[in-house]
Amino acid sequence: MANLAGKKIVLGVTGSIAAYKAAELVRRLRDSGAVVRVVMTPAATAFITPLTLQALSGYPVSQDLLDPAAEAAMGHIALAKWADLVLIAPATAAVLARLACGLADDLLTTLCLATTAPIAVAPAMNQQMYQASATQHNLQTLIQQGVSLWGPGEGSQACGDQGLGRLLEPAGLVAEIEQLLAPRNDLQGMRWLLTAGPTQEALDPVRFISNHSSGKMGFAVAQAAAARGAAVTLISGPVALATPPGVHRVGVTSALEMSAAVMERVQLQDLFVACAAVADYRPKSCAPQKLKSGEPIMTLTLVKNPDMVAQVAQLQERRPYTVGFAAETEQLARYARAKLLDKQLDLICANDISRVDQGFHSETNALHLYWSQGEKRLPLTSKSQLAHQLIDEIMQHYHANYRP
Ligand code: PMT
Repeated sequence: MANLAGKKIVLGVTGSIAAYKAAELVRRLRDSGAVVRVVMTPAATAFITPLTLQALSGYPVSQDLLDPAAEAAMGHIALAKWADLVLIAPATAAVLARLACGLADDLLTTLCLATTAPIAVAPAMNQQMYQASATQHNLQTLIQQGVSLWGPGEGSQACGDQGLGRLLEPAGLVAEIEQLLAPRNDLQGMRWLLTAGPTQEALDPVRFISNHSSGKMGFAVAQAAAARGAAVTLISGPVALATPPGVHRVGVTSALEMSAAVMERVQLQDLFVACAAVADYRPKSCAPQKLKSGEPIMTLTLVKNPDMVAQVAQLQERRPYTVGFAAETEQLARYARAKLLDKQLDLICANDISRVDQGFHSETNALHLYWSQGEKRLPLTSKSQLAHQLIDEIMQHYHANYRP
């Protein structure tokens, strides 16, 4: 299918053993209708020849920043302006570090600085190099700058290690590009209700009980669903995030307010996705004046908040397809499956919040999905990419199993 007809893609290839997959990627991109110009770093040419990628792309491969012949024709600025997308695949730890610092010391990094096109990176490296805090820090920086992170995948590596660091397969990368450049409208006509962010449970006029949720995961799902055509209502606790385009946002503070906002709207919805980190308990009463310090010990009486995702999942009439999240620090599978059953959810998305690169606040996340008949892992990637992958999974289950 020519989903990428006429789309202009600069493919940056850097020095990784996975560079051989660039050949297949170029072929698939051209099959999908894209025009591909390849830029190689010197290290990449040790793994795959420019001639191979020239033959497959149908264009000379650009390699040097200071190449008089190239600058006279398709120089780095012209290439940067030409691109609809710059994809670096495979992206080594070194190129990620140089990009994160804003270095422009070769053709590829220079054109990344010079382009207004979206930039995506598909990392490929040894699993320990990928987990190194410097690499993770660089990835977080790039994501904050708007760079899309695609992958890496998990599995056995060329060096014999096992873990995260494999370049995504070319078919997966083409799917990511299609999602970015030729967005789907597959949720047109659907109504999605989501919760996101923390709740705050007041102790007195100045203090509250809450948690570390930033709202990023829930906002990413809301943004992705709206971009794919759904009418999205997002009920959010207090977070410092802009409302995603096309999303109707309802701001709340406490769990009771969130619950009321959900129950008021839920019966009009096709799907309910509960991503909020709701406080399970609230102070029994909120002091009307600021509590005074002085006593060495203070005792709080807490009462349970309504479990809104369970209430929605147990509706007898007009029940939407109901997806919960589970934030766990241990025994992920056990606790997530218990929540799936107890709350009578259709699907639960478990995340390991003991890890710094996942769950609360981070730009990236990984999910382990559980439903009554099975399970599936969605590996670590940016929350915005993960949101699209999650929606793909939800829609498969919705269409296959759900009869409202
Ligand atoms: O916001 P971020 O910084 O991006 O972080 C994302 C996240 C870690 C908050 C998110 O991915 C996540 O895991 N959200 C659910 C957090 C949570 O409260 O998990 P839980 O296991 O305590 O709750 C289970 C489910 O019940 C959740 O769907 C929750 O929304 C829901 N719930 C819980 C209590 C309650 N009173 N009402 C509910 O609906």
